[in-house]
This record gives sequence, C-alpha cells and structure tokens, in this order.
Amino acid sequence: DQTVAFRGDHQAGITTEAQDRLHFAAFDVVTDSRDELVDMLKKWTDAADRMTRGLETVDDGALGLGDYTPPADTGEALGLSPAHLTLTIGFGPGLFGPSASDPNRKDRFGIAARKPAALADLPMFAQEKIEPGRSYGDICIQACADDPQVAVHAIRNLARIGVGVVSVRWSQLGFGRTSSTTRGQDTPRNMFGFKDGTANIRAEDTGVLDEHVWVAEGDNPPAAQWMTGGTYLVARRIRMDIEPWDRQNLKEQETVIGRTKGEGAPIGKESEFDEPDFNMTTYGAPMIARTAHVRLAHPDQNNGVQILRRGYNFTDGSDGFGHLDAGLFFIAFNRDSFKQFVPMQQTLSRKDALTEYLIPNGSAIFAVPPGVKDGEWWGQRLF
Ligand code: HEM
Repeated sequence: DQTVAFRGDHQAGITTEAQDRLHFAAFDVVTDSRDELVDMLKKWTDAADRMTRGLETVDDGALGLGDYTPPADTGEALGLSPAHLTLTIGFGPGLFGPSASDPNRKDRFGIAARKPAALADLPMFAQEKIEPGRSYGDICIQACADDPQVAVHAIRNLARIGVGVVSVRWSQLGFGRTSSTTRGQDTPRNMFGFKDGTANIRAEDTGVLDEHVWVAEGDNPPAAQWMTGGTYLVARRIRMDIEPWDRQNLKEQETVIGRTKGEGAPIGKESEFDEPDFNMTTYGAPMIARTAHVRLAHPDQNNGVQILRRGYNFTDGSDGFGHLDAGLFFIAFNRDSFKQFVPMQQTLSRKDALTEYLIPNGSAIFAVPPGVKDGEWWGQRLF
C-alpha cells in the first residue's frame, strides 16, 4: 500500500518513515481577511486529504470541467501512485503579527494572543548568510513522497488553490533523504558522502518522542493549547562547500564528522550503531576530536536534548562560478526550539569543525499543529 494516513493524533510527515523526495514551500499570506484564510485552509485540507489517497484535488479533477474551463487539477499526477505522499502544515511567527519577515505586520487575523512563546524568530547564528528570499514565511507545507512528481504536484495544486490568499515566498526541492525515522530503514548518505541519520530519533522511540518532540499540555497557557500534540519545525537551507570538502583527505573528513566514512562507526568503534565513546584517547588526544560534529551534537554535550532530524539533500544546479549549489535542506522537529535546536546550533556554530564547510543561507521556524481528526481542517483549533 502506497498510502500514509492523512488524519491522526499527530500530522503525517514527522515520524512517518522518511520518504525519498521533498518539496517544501513557505507561503506569505497576502489577504487581511480571516474568512478568506479559513476558507482556503478548509479547501487545502480537503485537497491534501484526497491527494494523499492518490486522488485528484477535487471531484472534477483534471478533466471533469469540460473543454472550455481550466482544469481544476493540474493533472501531472494522473496515473501515479500516492507514493507515500504526506503533507504537513506549519504556521510561522508572521501569521500572528510582527516578525523577521515583516516587522510592521499587524495581527490581521486576531490570533496574536494564541501565539505560543516557542514560536519566535530564530536568532542569528555565527557563520550564516541568511537570505530573506529563502527564509521565513507565514505558512509552510512540507510535501514528502517517494516520487518527486507527486510531491511537486501537491505543492503546485495547493499554491493554485491559494491564489489571492497566499503566495509562495520560497520553495525547496530535495532529492534524497538524509535521515532514517524508523528502525527498518537503511541509513542514507548526505552530500559529503557520510551516513546521516544514524543517531536519529525513530518512530518506535515513543518515550523519546514525548519528551523531545511532541508539545505537552503543560507547555502552554490555555490560549495556546491548540499546539498540544504538535511540534516545532526548523528549516535551514545549508549550502555545503562541496569542492573544498572533496579535496580533504579521508582521515580529515572522518575527524571533522567523528565517524568513519565507510561504515559510519564512531571513531574508535567497529560498527555503525555502536555507542560513541568520547573519553577514548590515543597518544593523549581524544579519539573523537573536540571539534567533531557528532561530539558537539550529541545529547551529552547538549544537556541531554535531542531533536528529530528529517532533512534532504539538494542540488540546485551550479552557482555561475563553477561550484555546485548543493547542500542539505535541514529539517528538524522539536518540542521547544529555544531549548533544543537553538542552543545546539549555537554550540555547533562556535565549535564544530564542519562549520567551515557550511553556509546556511535559508532559515525558518513553524509551529506544526497536532493531527487533524475526522471532519477537522488544518488549523481549526487555532482559528
Ligand atoms: C549527526 C552531518 C547539520 C545535528 C550527524 C552525522 C553526520 C551529520 C554525518 C552522523 C550520523 C548521524 O548520527 O546522523 C551533518 C551535515 C550537516 C549537519 C553534513 C550540514 C550540512 C546539523 C545541524 C544540526 C545537526 C544543523 C543541529 C543543529 C546533528 C545531531 C546528530 C548529528 C543531533 C546526532 C549526534 C549524536 O547523537 O551522535 N550529522 N549534520 N546536524 N547531527 Fe548533523
């Protein structure tokens, strides 16, 4: 079966076994009318529910409106399987009032009081070059599928349904997953050639998910209870300096990451899923370097916090100087980004040897509400 349930306690596309392809879109809301926005969210919910079941966006579909009307569905998914399509919605700080994307924004929809404290703009980090045109957004949709055409079709049709209410601010395609989110999945590789996702949180780790991913009732005051069972999505477009990396010798690459390139084992250990030992030394020096990515990202170095990583490789052609515009579109889910992602990223920005090879140039945060129950629409508990 190629279908992932659209409705449930949590939205699909978070602990769902990571699909191979991504189309992620961030939208600006261009209307001031709450009714128009709510109406669109209802239409989006219906269309998303249908598309994830492999159906066209509406009954009339790609052909049903006859010869003299633009088709209701754009048609490029006709005949394709649902390919495990998941559609996940998130709401950005700008939906509630002033934010990094527009400091003069008003509370257009009367929801400012319902904004959770953890939905705030990310701070600036060292060594990043954030481009506003690749950052922020009032609403995001993460479309994941095992067929790129299915993911692109979904975003395209939601954008089309939203004309006059939202406009696409930026979007990103990803062509290969860089994480595993279930125990059954093989670990994929990122653009530096290393296995990525080994130490990730898995769908089976329900206790860890409750502690580090899902927002609990006690996290918010009554006005922001609409987030209970939800999570926060951090998106970062991280360009990777492929060519300088490719000139480093293997040993240096492994030192930077803190794992072997072939097996993906922690330095000093045999196999991928062995626990890293950060106290092992050789000739008095730590075997896993003090600046190694896995040491600095490990819960031991971060007050025990963990995040659920669900990013994708991207290559958007080349940059005009003969370099690939390639990298990792980092997506992480966490219960409170300001207690989890932000301090972790601050440590990495300051100390991680990998940072020398990375140029983050897009950044965004979204509140991902819990799953939609039967008959509910996306965002219903917020509005
Ligand atoms: C682990 C690569 C960015 C957090 C890893 C691993 C690799 C890797 C190869 C080891 C395998 C694994 O456990 O998944 C990269 C690359 C990045 C990047 C190439 C950028 C292009 C980030 C960022 C964060 C992060 C921005 C968070 C702020 C982590 C965490 C682990 C990890 C938490 C697991 C550490 C552990 O518990 O052992 N990364 N990473 N990574 N990375 Fe990254």
